[in-house]
Amino acid sequence: MKIINELTKRAKAIDATIILPEANLDSRVMQSCEIIVKKNLSKIIVLGKESEFPLSLRNSKLCKIIDIDSYSEIDTLTNDLYELRKHKGLTIDEAKKLILDPAYFSCMLLKSGVADGLVAGAKWTTANTLRPALQIIKTKPTKSIVTGAMLMLKKGKEPKLFADISLNVNPTSEELSEIAISSAEFMQDVVQVEPRVALLSYSTHGSAQSDMVTKVANATQLAKKSNFKIDGEMQADSALNIITAKKKGIKSEVGGHANVLIFPDLNAGNIGYKMVAYFGEYRAIGPIMLNFNKPVNDLSRGCTTSEIVDTVVITKLLTQSK
Ligand SMILES: CC(C)(COP(=O)(O)OP(=O)(O)OC[C@H]1O[C@@H](n2cnc3c(N)ncnc32)[C@H](O)[C@@H]1OP(=O)(O)O)[C@@H](O)C(=O)NCCC(=O)NCCS
Repeated sequence: MKIINELTKRAKAIDATIILPEANLDSRVMQSCEIIVKKNLSKIIVLGKESEFPLSLRNSKLCKIIDIDSYSEIDTLTNDLYELRKHKGLTIDEAKKLILDPAYFSCMLLKSGVADGLVAGAKWTTANTLRPALQIIKTKPTKSIVTGAMLMLKKGKEPKLFADISLNVNPTSEELSEIAISSAEFMQDVVQVEPRVALLSYSTHGSAQSDMVTKVANATQLAKKSNFKIDGEMQADSALNIITAKKKGIKSEVGGHANVLIFPDLNAGNIGYKMVAYFGEYRAIGPIMLNFNKPVNDLSRGCTTSEIVDTVVITKLLTQSK
């Protein structure tokens, strides 16, 4: 597929190290690491004992194997973790235990600059993957929330971005507006396609009224303060079908042409992308976590080897975003 080939080419040129802490726990992650190294896609860090890894990784200059039990900087990482979380009540004894958890250890490697990006979640739940990152890596100073997006690709179709599909359960209007703007930024800066953002609802421009509709309408007004092409609230057919958009009186450039779809809550977003992937046979790349201070991406536990490689590609590209 043209777009993923293009993204891969750009990612390959970036000098960054991605940590994949589940390689010794999951054969799909291990295989992806072998592919990444073979294709010279990225420098990687994996966690475990040397003997747990195949020769292709042990002998590769691109792959660094770190054993938590014998890591020389463990005391520094432990103290840094303690300093970061002591205001939340973390004691030094708790920090000593927590740093041995690969999810916390890998976030601290990322925080300390040993790695530039992190990809996990093939084995771990979303909560176990993201909680340490939310606590340690935090959001960019200009943002207030992290949000999860899915890049939806199909041959011959313009790429689409769906959000939030993985993290914010029931965002407020303010949060929804930030999800819309952050998604537009990703589409523009990383995918390098001009974003046209639709905030979705079961109502189009006031055709129905309820608190759920008001939330999306208010979010749209807030998001419109940015310079992006944004419109809402609107139904999915108004966003995607030009004839319906015209019939419903939508005059913006978004109606019928939306390529960034913002869902009102996590039920809608998560169900929505899975329906499109299943019935529409789209390739779903993500969840792509936007707004972390340094990129952390959470895989789906049903992910395939090629999806893991795609996520490493996106993670490398995110190391360059502002
Ligand atoms: C990820 C998740 C587990 C975090 O829940 P939690 O641990 O109960 O979260 P808390 O409210 O205790 O927050 C933990 C930290 O993360 C931060 N945080 C939580 N959500 C955040 C967000 N969306 N953006 C930025 N920071 C966030 C909190 O501010 C807090 O930081 P602090 O400890 O420094 O104060 C929760 O948001 C969740 O379950 N989301 C749904 C994910 C899911 O199940 N998805 C399934 C589809 S893939």
